[in-house]
Amino acid sequence: MKKILLLIIVSFFLFVSCNSKETKVNEKTLEDYHQEFKKYANDYLFGLKAVLKRNLKNGGPIQGVTVCADTASDLTKMFSDAIELDVRRVSFKNRNPKNVPDEVEAEILHKYESLLKKNKLTSDVETFGKYKLNGKEILRYMKPIIVEKKCLKCHGNMKTIPQNVRSFLREKYPKDKAVNYKVGDLRGAISITKEL
Ligand code: HEC
Repeated sequence: MKKILLLIIVSFFLFVSCNSKETKVNEKTLEDYHQEFKKYANDYLFGLKAVLKRNLKNGGPIQGVTVCADTASDLTKMFSDAIELDVRRVSFKNRNPKNVPDEVEAEILHKYESLLKKNKLTSDVETFGKYKLNGKEILRYMKPIIVEKKCLKCHGNMKTIPQNVRSFLREKYPKDKAVNYKVGDLRGAISITKEL
């Protein structure tokens, strides 16, 4: 667990430092930002999945849920600090109330919901652009997160979430809305923001 986190951190910082040398030479275009944010989104989701997988394998859902509850927040903060961007996961049916979408994120999530209804929410769907949020200009990248079978151990219904995980969740997240999901549902999105 520690080793894998360390590996993710080290490779991530290497990536950041190599990248920043290149970008200082030229002014970045919007497309440069787009590609950069896309790479960050993939790295972040990969990191979260790696931690989750390792913990589920070692200690089952209860270890997964107790460790991941804190690791997800730590990893989010670490990524955001390292790249000086705001990186987070957002969802209408969230577990952590910090993950409530802002108005731009909500609009994009609604778009993903309607794509899903039309069966058009494929894995290459993403959103990038300049937006106005609370009077400020921002650059934002988003990508949908879809529910897979392995997510149901902590985001499914009474039958799929083990009893000890349920008690942990009740205690730690009294306002938990992130249950009763089914495979293929829109779970939320990753959202990366830079203030301009
Ligand atoms: C071992 C339990 C566990 C499993 C399995 C799990 N999650 Fe979570 N998930 C959590 C916990 C705990 C949180 C709250 C983290 C926090 O406090 O930020 C969370 C939060 C999230 C969030 C942030 C939005 C929110 O609801 O607060 C997303 C998105 C998410 N999970 C997606 C997934 C997906 C997709 C999968 C399957 C690939 C998955 N999770 C599997 C425990 C789990």
